[in-house]
Formats: sequence, C-alpha cells, structure tokens
Amino acid sequence: MIEFSHVSFAYEPGKEVIRDLSFRLEDGESVGLIGANGAGKSTLMKLLLGLLRGEGEITADGIRLEKKTLAEIRRKIGFVLQNSDNQMFMPTVYDDMMFAPMNYGMTREEAEKKVDAVLARLELTALRDRYNHKLSGGEKKMAAIAAVLAMEPEAVLMDEPTSGLDPYNRRLIIRTVRGMRETKLIASHDLDMILDCCSRVILLSEGRIAADGRAEDVLRDRALLEANHLELPLSLSRS
Ligand SMILES: Nc1ncnc2c1ncn2[C@@H]1O[C@H](COP(=O)(O)OP(=O)(O)OP(=O)(O)O)[C@@H](O)[C@H]1O
Ligand SMILES: [Mg+2]
Repeated sequence: MIEFSHVSFAYEPGKEVIRDLSFRLEDGESVGLIGANGAGKSTLMKLLLGLLRGEGEITADGIRLEKKTLAEIRRKIGFVLQNSDNQMFMPTVYDDMMFAPMNYGMTREEAEKKVDAVLARLELTALRDRYNHKLSGGEKKMAAIAAVLAMEPEAVLMDEPTSGLDPYNRRLIIRTVRGMRETKLIASHDLDMILDCCSRVILLSEGRIAADGRAEDVLRDRALLEANHLELPLSLSRS
C-alpha cells in the first residue's frame, strides 16, 4: 500500500534527518512508528503527505508521489498531525468533518449521516457545532480524529493521536483505532497504545530504521528501547 524507497530528506543542506529510508506497508497493516524526540517520525509522515519533498521515491497504492499525483494520494490518506491546530480548515467541527466526504462525492445527506455516526461513536456530539479555534487541545485532537474517520480513507497516518487526551478519551481512541480496518501508521511515545493498536513496529533513530519487527518483540527489547530514550510499555514491564 505504501512504500518508501531510498528516501532522504534534509531541512538544512547537509543535515539529513531522514537517511536512505526504505520500507513497505502492506494493505491493512497496522504499524507503530517510534523513536526518540527528533528521530524523524513527523518528518517521515510529512514526506508521505507531500508536505515536504526529499530524495528517493514514495508510492501509495502503486501511485508514485509527485506534484501531479499529490491530490489523488491525499484523497487516499487521512491524517492527524501532531499539532491538530494546523489541520482544521473550516470554522466548526461539523463543517470540517463534512468537507472531505462532500468533496469526494457523497451527497449532503450521506455525508451528514456519516458525520453524525462518527460523532456519536467518539461521543463528540456535543462538539458538533463548536468553533474549532475555541476547542481545548484534547477536544481539537478528538475532532481531528473524527474528521479522518468521516473521510473513510484507505490509509491513516496518526502523529501522536493520544497526546493531550484524558485517560477516558485515550481509551476511546485506542478502541476506535483497533476497530479501523484501514492501513495505519501511528507515530507515538505512548508505547502501550502502540502495543494495543499495532502488530508491527518500526523504530527510527536519527532518520534510520533501527528495528522493524513484530510489536511484541520490539517493545519487549528493553536494551533497544533504552538506547533510544524509550521505556518498556507498562503492560510489558509488569510481566
Ligand atoms: N521545520 C524544521 N526546520 C529545521 N529542522 C527541523 C524542522 N522540523 C524538524 N526539524 C528537525 O528534524 C529532526 C526530526 O524532527 P521530527 O519532527 O521529524 O522528529 P520526531 O521524531 O517527530 O520528534 P518528536 O518525538 O519530538 O515529535 C529534528 O532534529 C528536528 O529538530
Ligand atoms: Mg513528531
């Protein structure tokens, strides 16, 4: 579904933050992206969304990412950015959620039904007509996730989906993500969430892949995690 082939990227000449990266996500796979602050997780996601342009080749659903295919690829990939402030384009939660479904061909009635169902599923109906710029940080995050679900994409990128959420909403998001059948790439320091939601984990270190394997194996490797400023998930450190 998604493939990186020898991708490199530098924000400043000579300072590569993504280094000759190659990997492949199969259809329907659920992959956690972990690594220390500054390892390159958000940069990798922005490259895949065409928000940044680097060396090498990225393909999604067999389509090579370039200027003229960007719109087509964006339509297949829903995303929740690390800072959800940067991704709401419409004034209210409802308008924002309606935007993609209507743009991609649903009738207003169909889109409205979809949006209301997603709001109910995430227990967000009370936020429906609120202004995005007046939401709390966690509410914004929930609204951003809701907008992605309403879009029904083929793949979903989530950058720190649970950061800033209270424990109740964090659980709700974990349950929701587990129930999603789309291909998923989730960057997070919440390794318990990654363990709950992902079958495979890619560990980034200074823009390179330091490990790529079954979630239980990578997340159980204390030495590897500690070398990368991470710790065993709570649920594994007790056993
Ligand atoms: N706009 C920018 N200009 C220059 N350097 C940047 C920019 N954004 C990120 N970087 C640098 O690129 C590297 C990778 O950053 P990135 O945001 O991808 O890390 P991350 O793995 O998402 O970290 P975090 O866990 O803190 O979210 C870091 O060294 C960071 O300082
Ligand atoms: Mg980041």
